Amino acid sequence: MGELCPSILSADFNRLGEQIRTLEDAGIKILHIDVMDGDFVPSISFGMPVIRSIRKESGLFFDVHLMVREPIRYIREFVDCGADSITVHLEACSDVDAAIRAIHEAGIKAGLSIKPATEAEAVRPYIRDVEMVLVMTVEPGFGGQKYIESSTEKIRRVREIEAEEGAKVHVQVDGGINDDTIQVVVKAGADYLVAGSAVFKGDLKKNADHIRALMEQAG
Ligand code: DX5
Ligand code: ZN
Repeated sequence: MGELCPSILSADFNRLGEQIRTLEDAGIKILHIDVMDGDFVPSISFGMPVIRSIRKESGLFFDVHLMVREPIRYIREFVDCGADSITVHLEACSDVDAAIRAIHEAGIKAGLSIKPATEAEAVRPYIRDVEMVLVMTVEPGFGGQKYIESSTEKIRRVREIEAEEGAKVHVQVDGGINDDTIQVVVKAGADYLVAGSAVFKGDLKKNADHIRALMEQAG
């Protein structure tokens, strides 16, 4: 069974704690946390102090998505702040192996992400070494964008590569996940679905229940 991973990038930061509690009460297990550096991606989001602060209040699994150049510089700090997994971008690392190793040495799970322009094949050398592959289904940097159609084939390819390499990973998708795309990504092989605007716009519990019902139907 897959998991819905709400992205707090779309949260109301004035009520962040309350919104996370609502999601927790609704049975959400994984919280997706988008960190942007204004360099690898054009935008800047938030960083360690926010994560440290919500960690005190929440028992959820913190899935930290680092849209940061040379993220190896910050692995230790994010783990200390409460990350349960860290996903780095293949395109952002001069030494991908070293970044994955640093995450594991810090005692948490590692994810590897690829941008829309990066081929699925690029994850092959690392797929046995990570717990998750994140296929970005929009250009990273902003919430509320439209799903890029070519992502569907890429999700399928990642699952094929996983089988060919004898690996076992979660395949996460991130960007433009909503009523129109849930079926498509689940059928293509995604099991961890990140959603920002689709969860946080309106009634959080209702949205989460609705998305998970669609995921179940598709799977
Ligand atoms: C985009 C972020 C996403 C974003 C998704 O760079 O990585 O996690 O919050 O937002 P939606 O679901 O609104 O496309
Ligand atoms: Zn993300």
